[in-house]
Amino acid sequence: MYPKVLIIIASTRRQRLGPRFARWVWEVAAEGGALEAELVDLAELGLPFLSDSPLKREDRDGASVRWAEMVGGADGFVIVTPEYNHGYPAPLKNALDHLHGEWCRKPVAFVSYGGQGGGARAVEQLRAVVVELEMVPLRQQVVIPRVWEALTEDGVLHEENRTRDARHMLDELAWWAGALRVLRGTTPATA
Ligand SMILES: Cc1cc2nc3c(=O)[nH]c(=O)nc-3n(C[C@H](O)[C@H](O)[C@H](O)COP(=O)(O)O)c2cc1C
Repeated sequence: MYPKVLIIIASTRRQRLGPRFARWVWEVAAEGGALEAELVDLAELGLPFLSDSPLKREDRDGASVRWAEMVGGADGFVIVTPEYNHGYPAPLKNALDHLHGEWCRKPVAFVSYGGQGGGARAVEQLRAVVVELEMVPLRQQVVIPRVWEALTEDGVLHEENRTRDARHMLDELAWWAGALRVLRGTTPATA
């Protein structure tokens, strides 16, 4: 069975471009055939702001329960994030903070997009956050600068270098997701 990977759409605003980039990642993953990839849209999930301890499962309800099941059932993640004011979107932090054990010992890769910097500053911040969640951030990433040049009429430009970067990143993610899936079962996670 291929490792299961959630591709998380981190932006939630009405006019966002995030779903186009996430869809493109999903297509590259589907072509590669080494992962079972699923898109998750934080805008559709509709998590409330965190109001309970992420460690107390009995306190969860509604979207929080669905979120815990999705993350808990995945072997790895691709976070597709824009850069907002040199950081990443608040709904993404909220979604990360909602859980702990469900993230542990799982790999995460990043696809970022934005202006000149391509969202790289947002990803640098995310790297520190995911380590606290005991995840394994991958070195390989996709950075998409000048978003306006990366788009076609109805999707994302399949630019050769970018697709090659995504493929390489997803291959690494598949390796880590498969390896950690086996090892995760050997000792309990800390939360
Ligand atoms: C509130 C806000 C702040 C932004 N700040 C930055 C920034 O600091 N650096 C950058 O490269 N782009 C910045 N941008 C441009 C976004 O990266 C770009 O609009 C991108 O498409 C936003 O993602 P979304 O369309 O999925 O919401 C900002 C956009 C918004 C809406």
